[in-house]
Amino acid sequence: MKLNAAALAALAVTASATPNERRQETGCASAVTLDASTNVWTKYKLHANSFYRSEVEAAAETMTGTAAEKALKVADIGSFVWVDTRSAISRLEDAIVGVPCDDILGVVIYDLPGRDCAAKASNGELKVGELSVYKTEYIDPIVKILKANPNTAFALVIEPDSLPNLVTNIDLQTCQDSAEGYREGVAYAISELNLPNVVMYLDAGHGGWLGWNDNLEPGAEELAAVYKAAGSPSQLRGIATNVAGWNAWDLSPGEFADATDAEWNKCQNEKIYVETFGEALAAAGMPNHAIIDTSRNGVQGLREEWGNWCNVDGAGFGLRPSSETGSTIADAFVWVKPGGESDGTSDSSATRYDSYCGKPDAYQPSPEAGTWNQAYFEMLLNNAKPAF
Ligand code: GLC
Repeated sequence: MKLNAAALAALAVTASATPNERRQETGCASAVTLDASTNVWTKYKLHANSFYRSEVEAAAETMTGTAAEKALKVADIGSFVWVDTRSAISRLEDAIVGVPCDDILGVVIYDLPGRDCAAKASNGELKVGELSVYKTEYIDPIVKILKANPNTAFALVIEPDSLPNLVTNIDLQTCQDSAEGYREGVAYAISELNLPNVVMYLDAGHGGWLGWNDNLEPGAEELAAVYKAAGSPSQLRGIATNVAGWNAWDLSPGEFADATDAEWNKCQNEKIYVETFGEALAAAGMPNHAIIDTSRNGVQGLREEWGNWCNVDGAGFGLRPSSETGSTIADAFVWVKPGGESDGTSDSSATRYDSYCGKPDAYQPSPEAGTWNQAYFEMLLNNAKPAF
């Protein structure tokens, strides 16, 4: 079985390297087989998806001169498509069209019942207890689409913030209520989405979250337990970190290294975090390679506290997607959060208002989570590092 898979993977690589075997339309000429025991990002480029492209192009249309030219460059950067509701499954269908053979389409799976249990800004459409809806009306249709597109490669980030919340926020009633659905839902997702043309990464928060010394082992145990409950799916490669986050990759000393509590966290940047948490994952029996979201981490020194996560003011686009990370455990830098989409509303009268989005270091005004904020996009562009 293993030899067959490896042989198929080798064939797929050969196919992607031979231009005359490529088709002009969607995907490759034959089925894609991703070998999740290797770093697929060395062969595939994160696709600059059509959904973000149209958001960025619309943004550029309202701009002029060199600013507009720079903005259009962002449309060519690979990023993930967020399927954050059942109706957003259509985004995935649209985004698959025209993905070339040597690109990989990044997709965020994000619709668990009782979503965002420790915050309010991203509470989702499904309530605690609606696990069967999650399975049959959300995961199953996505599985069907990925199966119907065997010639296209997909990289999935599974359910940002969900399992990390169960590690550190389980004192909250909301997280206690969500816990069972998160564990069963994520296990169901990664067992059903375990397809040959898919590579999966479980969300693991960031260095300022599960990187605290006391959270490393419980965090790794939490993720590994779900991975094992799912039958140790072969296409799960490891973890996604810093999703929609702000931490620098390898800044040293780290941004919060001078904080009074720094002695309790040895993971002061994401590089140290993926390497350290990776060891804990291996010990817990889970694959431990990582992709790191560098979409908005270009500027440091903006947050009053490490835990401030909402629309950080002064932020800039960060490192471009690349498999050249300089760390064997880090498969790639990727753009997961679509820069320009809000983290949460600053309108204190809104149902999903979270006080983090009203903090002094949070950009205001900001619209509802996931909604485009033109001013914020322009700020990310102006502060981009490297510059556009
Ligand atoms: C937030 C939103 C979600 C959106 C995502 C990407 O998590 O809740 O709706 O898709 O950010 O912007």
